Amino acid sequence: MKPPRRRCGLLAVLVALIVLASLQIQYHHLKDDRLNGDHTFATTTTIDQVQWRTGAEGLPRGIVHSHSDMYLRPLWDSGANPKNKNDNHTALLAMAVGISQMQNVDVMAHKFLNQNYTVMLFHYDGNVDGWRNLEWSDKAIHILAHNQTKWWFAKRFLHPDVVAIYDFIFLWDEDLGVDNFDPRRYLDIMVSEGLEITQPALDPDLSTDIHHRITIRNKMAKVHRRIYDSRASMNCSDESKGPPCTGWVEGMAPVFSQAAWRCVWHLIQNDLIHGWGLDMKLGYCAQGDRAEKVGVIDSEYVVHQGIPSLGGPSLSSKVCLSSQIVTF
Ligand SMILES: *[C@@H]1O[C@H](CO)[C@@H](O)[C@H](O)[C@H]1NC(C)=O
Ligand SMILES: *[C@@H]1O[C@H](CO)[C@@H](O)[C@H](O)[C@H]1NC(C)=O
Ligand SMILES: *[C@@H]1O[C@H](CO)[C@@H](O)[C@H](O)[C@H]1NC(C)=O
Ligand SMILES: *[C@@H]1O[C@H](CO)[C@@H](O)[C@H](O)[C@H]1NC(C)=O
Repeated sequence: MKPPRRRCGLLAVLVALIVLASLQIQYHHLKDDRLNGDHTFATTTTIDQVQWRTGAEGLPRGIVHSHSDMYLRPLWDSGANPKNKNDNHTALLAMAVGISQMQNVDVMAHKFLNQNYTVMLFHYDGNVDGWRNLEWSDKAIHILAHNQTKWWFAKRFLHPDVVAIYDFIFLWDEDLGVDNFDPRRYLDIMVSEGLEITQPALDPDLSTDIHHRITIRNKMAKVHRRIYDSRASMNCSDESKGPPCTGWVEGMAPVFSQAAWRCVWHLIQNDLIHGWGLDMKLGYCAQGDRAEKVGVIDSEYVVHQGIPSLGGPSLSSKVCLSSQIVTF
């Protein structure tokens, strides 16, 4: 038999352990209760509570609109809904632009406005007046903030509730050549292929700026979702489940479905500038298996002209804070 004092010591340790354990359990219960409480609240909230939570509780129900759109409503318009009659898709093209690239942006904007898609220009160089002479200038929405990138603008001005009317969001760089690109046909492919996040393939013959193999156009295909490469540094095969082999597109010309955009908007951090690292994380927003829902569309393709501009290579090398890379 052990001496009694030692037994007491053991007992004391045991009791202490039990007390600690029960405290721990209680703490977890408290935490769970709190979480469950929130959860129940969230899932059983009625419309009234939602309105209370959004600050609209004092308003008559009928007039509350939680979503908006980007349609222009001329002062003397009779109020007819300026909707796209001819098309199954509604889409928004948003680009950060500078006056030096006006000619190229002109071509891009035409392609989208011809389909009655909305065009939003984020002017980072302060020059808005220079665009006035373009015949479509009044149809576009112009936003000005000095020296900001498209991710900055998108986070501030493309809140998912505000752009909820659009089935698709094009968040593009300004230096893309669109001679072989038709946005309407592009979206038809995106829908028929069940894709949520895409980019047009890059023409390898004319593009000066190609960073990733997955973006290169496959002339034999309509769409590709993965690349094959047996080098050890890549090792891309049918087994691959993520970047750089499958399930991602580059930040220069992404196109998002409405659901994917709702997710991506939350993924964009307030201090994100160039968006590096973000593209690799887009798969989180694929609304399912990213190897299936993210793809590069080959039959409608663009040329990446690689003109140094805001967010282009010339500036990129200067500014790279670690907080701008999404790290999780
Ligand atoms: C765009 O809208 C105009 C005016 O509503 C309409 O006449 C035209 O047919 C539309 N074009 C397309 C491609 O939907
Ligand atoms: C709209 O979609 C339907 C079915 O998905 C298709 O039959 C029709 O041609 C489309 N209309 C246009 C204008 O694209
Ligand atoms: C924007 O950046 C350019 C180039 O770095 C600089 O010359 C200019 O002063 C900046 N403008 C503002 C308003 O910060
Ligand atoms: C490539 O990946 C496969 C599994 O996906 C693995 O079996 C193989 O050893 C890898 N090859 C190289 C060269 O790393």
